[in-house]
Amino acid sequence: MINEGIGLLKGKKGIIFGALNPQSIAWAIAEAAHREGASFILSNAPVAKRLGTLDGLAEKTNSTIIWADATNDEDLAGLFEQAKEMFGQIDFIVHSIGMGLNVRKKRPYENLNYAWYHKTLDISSISLHRIVHHAIETEAMADGGSIVALSYIGAQRVFSEYSEMGDAKALLESIVRSWGYRLGPRGIRINSISQSPTKTVAGSGIKGFDGMFTFGDKISPLGNADAESCADYTVTLLSDFSRMVTMQNLFHDGGFSSMGISDLLIEKLDEVFSEDG
Ligand code: NAI
Repeated sequence: MINEGIGLLKGKKGIIFGALNPQSIAWAIAEAAHREGASFILSNAPVAKRLGTLDGLAEKTNSTIIWADATNDEDLAGLFEQAKEMFGQIDFIVHSIGMGLNVRKKRPYENLNYAWYHKTLDISSISLHRIVHHAIETEAMADGGSIVALSYIGAQRVFSEYSEMGDAKALLESIVRSWGYRLGPRGIRINSISQSPTKTVAGSGIKGFDGMFTFGDKISPLGNADAESCADYTVTLLSDFSRMVTMQNLFHDGGFSSMGISDLLIEKLDEVFSEDG
């Protein structure tokens, strides 16, 4: 746990999307960015006003809340105009937004409700495209800035219960690459962080989450990465120390993505599946 900042983001201004409650990954990112000297706007969907507890975070981090639905162009254009009024230009954006409607409503992948599937992709992936589009269109984003989105290894591999969200994360990571090419000439970089299962509202909405969490924790040499360590990694990507890193999907998962199987898992699987047992 890092308690004291080192001024990594001193003088940097930005927008952090997706803090809902103290379990949210974006909440931890806001706290770490504040600790490192950044000034920022907190943004979330207007419906989250009722569900979350954002006021306390805004007070603690000396930030302003601007409500904007990340699937709504008008809301986003308005948000970036206000950001310009407050900060001139911004240096960073954190996209920590996700929602799987079929997953939440327990519709299996074989029988998706396509209206919900569209909404899932709109909220979880296309919103990144929209946010970057409006940041550029309104000229709110400064040259040399950094954009980070949160992803999951379900983009590359099948985690059965992750269902439609695997597709959403694959699209999100592709949008990171496509924008990265176009933002490069201005020195703006964009990356995704592929985070371990983390106990949050979005995480625990997934059936089988506990199993995925335990599997990750047991097989990763460092164990699962929590929201606080994710936040510490995120601030390095928002800082100038990572200025030549772009278009990457960076695994922040305690080593999970490089593992096949571990001694512990072999032992346990032997117990469960042994012919004698
Ligand atoms: P969370 O539920 O705290 O955050 C999701 C946020 O998305 C909420 O603040 C919600 O209000 C916001 N949101 C939903 N619809 C929106 C809309 N239309 N406009 C604006 N905001 C909207 O959960 P968590 O886990 O912190 O999720 C953050 C990101 O991290 C997501 O992209 C998620 O997929 C990703 N992630 C989460 C993992 C986990 O196990 N919790 C693992 C890997 C990635």
